[in-house]
Amino acid sequence: MDKTWWKESVVYQIYPRSFNDSNGDGIGDIKGIIEKLDYLKELGIDVIWLSPVYQSPNDDNGYDISDYQAIMDEFGTMADWEELLDEIHHRGMKLIMDLVVNHSSDEHAWFRESKKSKDNPYRDYYIWRPGKNGNEPNNWQSTFSGSAWEYDENTDEYFLHIFSKKQPDLNWENPRLREEVYQMMRWWLDKGIDGFRMDVINFISKVPGLPDAPNPNGEKYVSGTKYFKNGPRIHEFLQEMNQEVLGNYDIMTVGEMPGVDVEEAKKYTDLTRDELQMVFQFEHMDLDSGPNGKWDLKPLDLRDLKNSISKWQTGLHGVGWNSLYLNNHDQPRIVSRFGNDAAYRVESAKMLGTFLHMLQGTPYVYQGEEIGMTNIKFDSIDAYKDIEILNMYNEKVVEGNGDPNKVMESIYVKGRDNARTPVQWDDSENGGFTTGEPWLQVNPNYKEINAKQAVADPNSIYHYYRQLIELRKKHEIIVYGDYHLILPDHDKIYAYMRTYEGEKLLVVTNFSEEQVEFMLPHDVSFEVKERLIGNYDSSEMNDVTSFMLKPYEARVYKGE
Ligand code: NOJ
Repeated sequence: MDKTWWKESVVYQIYPRSFNDSNGDGIGDIKGIIEKLDYLKELGIDVIWLSPVYQSPNDDNGYDISDYQAIMDEFGTMADWEELLDEIHHRGMKLIMDLVVNHSSDEHAWFRESKKSKDNPYRDYYIWRPGKNGNEPNNWQSTFSGSAWEYDENTDEYFLHIFSKKQPDLNWENPRLREEVYQMMRWWLDKGIDGFRMDVINFISKVPGLPDAPNPNGEKYVSGTKYFKNGPRIHEFLQEMNQEVLGNYDIMTVGEMPGVDVEEAKKYTDLTRDELQMVFQFEHMDLDSGPNGKWDLKPLDLRDLKNSISKWQTGLHGVGWNSLYLNNHDQPRIVSRFGNDAAYRVESAKMLGTFLHMLQGTPYVYQGEEIGMTNIKFDSIDAYKDIEILNMYNEKVVEGNGDPNKVMESIYVKGRDNARTPVQWDDSENGGFTTGEPWLQVNPNYKEINAKQAVADPNSIYHYYRQLIELRKKHEIIVYGDYHLILPDHDKIYAYMRTYEGEKLLVVTNFSEEQVEFMLPHDVSFEVKERLIGNYDSSEMNDVTSFMLKPYEARVYKGE
């Protein structure tokens, strides 16, 4: 297996709006990020992934870009961004930028032109269609509720928007559009960035004809995902992008890919195919959803997590490469989700970190995860800011007849604003995030949960993450070793081994608040050499054939 820097790196995701505000306007900014770079360096971070900082009307907090080559005023200036890049490089870290090219903002100059007339040179930068029998061109639903089509009176046609109506989809069938995107990418790379995280990049090729999706229950709109995820020309487009741009730089690339499976991911990440290096897949993030999608709550069955993770670990081994994550700006906080954010917050956050960081792949830490930040419960829907939450609430409660309490309950568990409350830096007002009025309220638990406290406490989640990251740098087996699941049917313990050049690693994690006994299966041999890390003080032991695990306990042994 080839060794590369991006396989050996740990990435930290910054969602700039909520990270750190330097000028008191209540919105995080680039200078605020610069202030915290030493904190990230101390943690051991190699690469920073910066969520969009481009010019945007903020319908979807920067994922609706109106100018790909300018910085959002609220975040600062291009000079600030250049300083950020210098400061990151100066500390020996790297920067990857978000690339959002499935869609732009409707306020992008291309779309303003495109709207003007059917024969405008930019018309075909977007996906326009006439209506069908007085209705939308097809029955696809937007990810953010309602139809995926918006009518435009001026030319009497509809444009496609898989996300909000202020996020029109770009038309990748048009070679001129593709060339513009590649030029823009080269422009950023030539400024010295170290790669891209690519937003819903497996949505860019749509099935020609844009057919209606099957609709057995006669819904008004239904998901059209199967007609645009991993579409017919996706690999061709990515290979072209690789040839035109990516392949000419020593960079990191990771494509966000809802609905990707292992077989498809092998194609995307097999380096000999010249596409991408990693994908963000969602299988493990969907295990606590019922058949009706993300708002349909269902408890996690640990065996499902084992099945899914193991399939990806072994499936991509030796072919592609996994990205490892439990949090990002779209997901609820993992300690509230798969852990216990009350009595065992610290233990369960450390356990989840252990589980993830000992796997094969490149780990991603999302801001605040390293201090165990938790989900939020605002009393009123008015305190929420996320377009997905607000549109869903509107559709289900305001326009529909849904029970507001039930809908609020699903927002508490799954809403994206759980991840977007400002980072809690200290116990001063607003958690030290801003001296002004924060754009989204700070979680009231900032007095106990904050970075200052975590850095000062040697037993904190922060220092535990620091150690996890340090271990990865010290032991090649953590990066490159094979993965083997043990105890596949246990519903509380997730245990696995890694093997590499005659060495072994045993990772044992308890996903429950009960005490449970771990027993090494008879057909597995493991002789302990060293205990690498654990989230409880456990006395020295040389025999791991059986032992009791405390609530949410995690242990890692190296041996042979
Ligand atoms: C995925 C991003 O992570 C999410 O935040 C955004 O809303 C959609 N793509 C649309 O860009």
